[in-house]
Amino acid sequence: MDPVQLDEADWSACYALHSAAHAERGSRPNASQAAYRAGHLSLSSDGQQLFWVAREDDRIIGKADLYLGDQLTDRGRFALYVLAEHRRRGTATELLRALVDAALSRGCEQLVVGIDHADSRTLCEQAGGELTQRVTIRTLALNDVPWPRVDTWVEAGERDSPGARVLQFDRLPDELAGDYLRLMERVQADVPRAGTPVPSVSLDVRRAEELAYARRGWRWHCFALQEPDGTLSALAEVSHDPLIADGVHQQITGVAPAQRGRGRAKWIKAAVLKDICTRYPQVTRVTTNNADDNGPMVSINRQLGFVDRVQQAIYRFDAAGFRAHLG
Ligand SMILES: CC(C)(COP(=O)(O)OP(=O)(O)OC[C@H]1O[C@@H](n2cnc3c(N)ncnc32)[C@H](O)[C@@H]1OP(=O)(O)O)[C@@H](O)C(=O)NCCC(=O)NCCS
Repeated sequence: MDPVQLDEADWSACYALHSAAHAERGSRPNASQAAYRAGHLSLSSDGQQLFWVAREDDRIIGKADLYLGDQLTDRGRFALYVLAEHRRRGTATELLRALVDAALSRGCEQLVVGIDHADSRTLCEQAGGELTQRVTIRTLALNDVPWPRVDTWVEAGERDSPGARVLQFDRLPDELAGDYLRLMERVQADVPRAGTPVPSVSLDVRRAEELAYARRGWRWHCFALQEPDGTLSALAEVSHDPLIADGVHQQITGVAPAQRGRGRAKWIKAAVLKDICTRYPQVTRVTTNNADDNGPMVSINRQLGFVDRVQQAIYRFDAAGFRAHLG
């Protein structure tokens, strides 16, 4: 089975599948059909994403996606959905065989998937998947933000750390790059993920990611807290896809280990929220994902008004072992 190029009718069938997957877990797609299609196309034209579909009587009944990121890591992410009435006939296995073969042929040694369906969790465990993280996808409606609390967090940060300031940039400035990427690597290593190694991000990789965002038309806004001695103590990143005009995605937030527990994460998250409102008056919500055992991050997000939407179990597979299991 080969990866497919989809025509116009296929895109609406795939979007219907995507919507069915959301409905099954009690949510709705964030992206419109146009945004869904554009997102897939930009990733696939970069060779970062491949997809396969299963058809019955010309109707698309299942779809699998393989996301290979920047191809500089040996880990790929996949997603799979088969319509409920077509399950237990081997369709998922057939899609997965093609997907894992493609991953292996591209040097991808590990595969990661986020599962929100009990039956799929059982399948992952039977196929040798290792549960690495439980995460919750959360949404914050900007109308529900307790703004006085946000202001208090900024004021407390400025009061308790005189001389420290929030920096904001889209492209990582050369002069900050070394410090910023070292801090990023440190905080990434501390995100609870059951031993999944975090690849170190060189400036070349970072520049390639910046270009990939720009090619897709996404905006990437980065924030850092700079201490009076010039060191960086915290960072936060958000992204905006103009095709999902009313939403912003909050990515990583992190604080240097020696500075934790002193309100710096609250300060930088508050500064990010204020920035989003000024920069994007049309944005009504922020989405994020947090590991369920990340006590401080979950606490901060709850205090900001983030509401739980979907719970997922993240499984990691050794690609070769997974392929052997599929037969
Ligand atoms: C998550 C992280 C950014 C928090 O940084 P921090 O400097 O400790 O955060 P702050 O001091 O601003 O605020 C922490 C809040 O969490 C609370 N908290 C701390 N530990 C907690 C725990 N185990 N359970 C619940 N709440 C906890 C604190 O009480 C505080 O809230 P409060 O002031 O209302 O009491 C930091 O631990 C980190 O960088 N971790 C690694 C990277 C990471 O996991 N990032 C999140 C993934 S997106």
